[in-house]
Amino acid sequence: MEVLDTSEAMTAWAAARRGRVRVGLVPTMGFLHAGHASLLDLLRPRCEALVVSIYVNPLQFGAGEDLDRYPRDLEGDLALCAAHGADAVFTPASLYPPGHATRVRVEGLTEGLCGASRPVHFEGVTTVVARLFGLVGCDVAAFGEKDFQQLQVLRRMTADLALPVEIVGGPIVRDADGLALSSRNAYLDPAQRARALSLSRALRALQDAVVAGEHDVAALTALGRGLLDVDALDYLEVVDPQTLRPVARVDGEARALVAASLGATRLIDNVALAAAP
Ligand code: PAJ
Repeated sequence: MEVLDTSEAMTAWAAARRGRVRVGLVPTMGFLHAGHASLLDLLRPRCEALVVSIYVNPLQFGAGEDLDRYPRDLEGDLALCAAHGADAVFTPASLYPPGHATRVRVEGLTEGLCGASRPVHFEGVTTVVARLFGLVGCDVAAFGEKDFQQLQVLRRMTADLALPVEIVGGPIVRDADGLALSSRNAYLDPAQRARALSLSRALRALQDAVVAGEHDVAALTALGRGLLDVDALDYLEVVDPQTLRPVARVDGEARALVAASLGATRLIDNVALAAAP
């Protein structure tokens, strides 16, 4: 496994492979866990050269967010990448060239949910992922449903810019008790960790209620709010999975998404809802 720490090294590595082998990319911000590993496992059989990028992208953090304290563990990350078959890990200290002035912005899908409280976030994500696609020249890239809005925004960007990259979504990996794995779980103290479970529990309760015949979204979100044990609820919404617009009833496919804070830690989770036919 090669470790590449500059954009130039990444470009040279990619140039030697482009058009010859199918290249896969898993973009990450590091402090890797089993959720990230699942994306490597998903891509490994779909490509011949597998690249993981590790870069805490300043463009996607707003003022007062956790850019400065985002957890890091390069040694552990490299071990996980090697164990899951990565051929190269791209870990640049900085990613943008001097004079970098381009922003990629997807409209519509980025306005609600996390976009409402994190106005610069998705522009930072699409800008960095577009640059990573250019540097790595990947044929396929994997993203987790854990960040469901991000996944849909990146699908939109890739289609709109006609980027020759297949986007693969991976299911959410959870701890045994249901908590969605996240690098940010490292911030939680034991009491907060216990209360954080209320996110996945509330979402599970929504799923169960839909199966039991409750299709009214106002009733569903009232149920979910009652089960959440958090310091601040950002949103609990039921949306159309393609448009991410709120729906009033669960008639076909829908997605329930939640974002909430415990202390200074903001957590997100989501589940698919399906009304019985
Ligand atoms: P990061 O939070 O490190 O996540 C990297 C990838 O891992 C994302 O596609 C995310 O959805 C996925 N992931 C995280 N936790 C997961 C879980 N429990 N189950 C399944 N997949 C999971 O998301 C980012 O980084 C950044 O925004 C990035 C796309 C790298 C751009 O900077």
